[in-house]
Amino acid sequence: MPSDSVLEEIKTRIDIVDFISEYVHLKHAGQNWKGLCPFHAEKTPSFTVSPSKQIYHCFGCASGGDIFSFLVRYENLSFPEAVRALAKRAGVELKVSQKDAARTGEKEILLNMHRDALVFFQQQLARNAKAGEYLNKRGINIEAQKLFSLGYALKTWDALLTFLVRKGHKAEMIKKAGLVTQGTKGIYDTFRDRIMFPIYDLKGEVIAFGGRTISGDDPKYLNSPETLIFNKGRVLYGLHRAKEAIKKTGQALFMEGYIDVIMAHMHGFSNSVAPLGTALTPEHGKLIKRFVEDATLVFDGDEAGMSAAKRAANVLLESGLNVRILSFPDKEDPDSFLRKKGAEGFRKLLDAPLSIVDFFMLQKKDRRMIAHEALETISRMPDNVLQGQYVKMLSEKLMINEIFIREEFNKIRNLSARTVQTAAPKPGLRTKTRPSEEVSLIKLLLQLPETIGKVSGVISEGDFKDVATRTIFKKIMGGLTDFNELLSTCEGEEKDFLTEISLRDDFDNPEKGFDDCIKRITGNKRKRQLQELQGKIQEAESRKDFKLLKLLQAQHQEITRKKG
Ligand code: GTP
Ligand code: MN
Repeated sequence: MPSDSVLEEIKTRIDIVDFISEYVHLKHAGQNWKGLCPFHAEKTPSFTVSPSKQIYHCFGCASGGDIFSFLVRYENLSFPEAVRALAKRAGVELKVSQKDAARTGEKEILLNMHRDALVFFQQQLARNAKAGEYLNKRGINIEAQKLFSLGYALKTWDALLTFLVRKGHKAEMIKKAGLVTQGTKGIYDTFRDRIMFPIYDLKGEVIAFGGRTISGDDPKYLNSPETLIFNKGRVLYGLHRAKEAIKKTGQALFMEGYIDVIMAHMHGFSNSVAPLGTALTPEHGKLIKRFVEDATLVFDGDEAGMSAAKRAANVLLESGLNVRILSFPDKEDPDSFLRKKGAEGFRKLLDAPLSIVDFFMLQKKDRRMIAHEALETISRMPDNVLQGQYVKMLSEKLMINEIFIREEFNKIRNLSARTVQTAAPKPGLRTKTRPSEEVSLIKLLLQLPETIGKVSGVISEGDFKDVATRTIFKKIMGGLTDFNELLSTCEGEEKDFLTEISLRDDFDNPEKGFDDCIKRITGNKRKRQLQELQGKIQEAESRKDFKLLKLLQAQHQEITRKKG
């Protein structure tokens, strides 16, 4: 890992406003710059970049950091990768030992291992007639096999393990990658007698595998477990091959399975992707939103496919994508449909996608139910104009007066606004409520470091209810008083929190603010202590333990007296 001074050197050479401007359109706003946040869907800019502090923070989704964390999040890089990229740009040389240390990180080891495993699986496919026949039977020709780097995992228990160990990989790491599994008698290959689908990230690195059995084993499909380099909810199968076509055609086709995607690419629909056998997540939506605005769901034509499409539509709409849905004739999936009707047939369907309103109309339900479900979905769209259009369309199609539909819509919208407030905060979404006195105290300690001395002995970390403020308090009291230094030791929620408060206005009257915070925090502490005592007193009373009772009552008095 590069030393702090190297990181600081890179930071002084790259201005954060110049840098982020290459990704986000920024406009001057007072001391800062503002733009639309690249990390969540929004229509009004809450993404703020501070040239004086050299940090960014989004007041919409609460993410923040410096140039390194920006690149990590935007390009999905590891920290060392981001450092390397920025060092190059800044013309700062990383010492060889630092480079080596970064490279030999666990991620690099895992990536190398997946590269090796892929070569092995591909070799085995070339040598194994049964596997080749299976793919032929499924209509996946050699060209497509190459394009998607398909492979085959042997039926034996340790072919891959032996190969990887010979390549110098450690059994412990192979287990971490999920490529072998721990059994009672030792470890064995996780994937056996399966067609192997390598899963790529956007940079074209293999980060996991999916395997389909060719002999009817259970489960039909098996995926790598989540690892340091693989997070299912953030990867789409085929995206690394599809992204150019997605940009060119202006839309992404979401399918359900690996084979659907491969078939679609073979027939010229190279803008097709699929989640990895799981439901679509908001991260998937954001991933696609980087390339286009329009998504079309191409799900199986059966009941299960329909309800999966409904859920997927809701998720993607919330990411701010325009969603349309293809309806397949019953029981077909993209794979079977393409094989029967070819590219032409598929093109016809694609030319007449259903709007989400039409999609809801297809259901065999009464009009009220349809209206309710459709409005629930429409209420998730971040764009009000679009919402209005859909509400109007719904009233026309259902032939229900728009006034009634609007009334219902407002009810649903208010209801969902309320549930959002009471629901647990979604990860990455604004905004966790932390006790304001704890937040203000951190802000004050950073604004006026001389107050640190006044706090010690009066307040301790145990008095903090919130984890992030508590951790940061501990770090400040431990001597980390320089903002940038402090920031570099924080990650995730703590980093987001720090960048947010550093962009808040300083207190006009810090001394008074400081006294208020101390009073409130010690007040909370006293209240907590009294509550606890109250409980113990009641218990002592019911047990008639008068000796203890007296002691507790004395303690209670002591605390109440201190207050004055
Ligand atoms: P084929 O039978 O090979 O045509 O599969 P399919 O692509 O039609 O698959 P299906 O519609 O049954 O499933 C769609 C996707 O769900 C697959 O591509 C897999 O990613 C996933 N999937 C299907 N079955 C399983 C399973 O048993 N386990 C897991 N983990 N995923 C599965
Ligand atoms: Mn299928």
